[in-house]
Amino acid sequence: MTRMNPALSLFVTGTDTEIGKTFVSSALLHGFVREGLRAAAMKPIAAGAFVLNGELHNEDADQLDAASNVLLPPAMRTPYLLKEPAAPHIAAALENVSFDIDHIVACHAQALKRADVVVVEGVGGFRVPLTATHDTANLAVALKLPVVLVVGMRLGCISHALLTAEAIAARGLTLAGWVANRVDPDMTFADENIASIREHLAREHDAPLLGIVPHLSPAAPELAADRLDINRLLQTLRHAQH
Ligand SMILES: Nc1ncnc2c1ncn2[C@@H]1O[C@H](COP(=O)(O)OP(=O)(O)O)[C@@H](O)[C@H]1O
Ligand SMILES: [Mg+2]
Repeated sequence: MTRMNPALSLFVTGTDTEIGKTFVSSALLHGFVREGLRAAAMKPIAAGAFVLNGELHNEDADQLDAASNVLLPPAMRTPYLLKEPAAPHIAAALENVSFDIDHIVACHAQALKRADVVVVEGVGGFRVPLTATHDTANLAVALKLPVVLVVGMRLGCISHALLTAEAIAARGLTLAGWVANRVDPDMTFADENIASIREHLAREHDAPLLGIVPHLSPAAPELAADRLDINRLLQTLRHAQH
């Protein structure tokens, strides 16, 4: 295996919830593993848990683990696992939990010691509130990570994509690239929409399209991995680190 020193990492955000962040993150993990890297995932804040063999699980975290070849201890992978499938600040209030971004940053630093690349999946869209004063964007800033934007291809996604890219840039973060994910198989003019986003993000943010993931049935992340330009992403991540 090729060892990466220091480890690479990226923050995966999306145009919305349920648009394929976990799916594309899993595909990226498969892609990194194929490149011979030790790949680990974090889902630092997860809302929605079920009990399996006496332990709390979260669907996203389990999917990410299934695509990784390095498993982090659950408390490092998901420092905040909340029971209620709700907006994080609401789920946290129900359990009297308050998010400590520094704690997540510390867990991430530990994760970097165990892998060559750590994929961090955000929660919901880019500005989901975490506390009264902080949101997911603040988390990405605290982690100092390049961002990959997953665009769920459906009507309305162009503006969501461009707004998210603007919010990423406004915080001084690098948009390492974006993925067009065909989450809605019935979307019309998908190619035209992709072309439009591609042009804007390239011109305004120098951000490449890393791949177009078709609607897959069943949704197999290892097949989605074939559609992603992993080497281009790795190149950008290495560059962003220096
Ligand atoms: N390209 C795709 N083809 C088929 N199903 C997809 C695709 N992308 C996402 N899905 C499905 O859509 C749902 C939401 O995806 P998920 O990755 O969980 O979204 P998010 O993490 O943004 O909430 C899941 O059931 C997933 O399997
Ligand atoms: Mg998810």
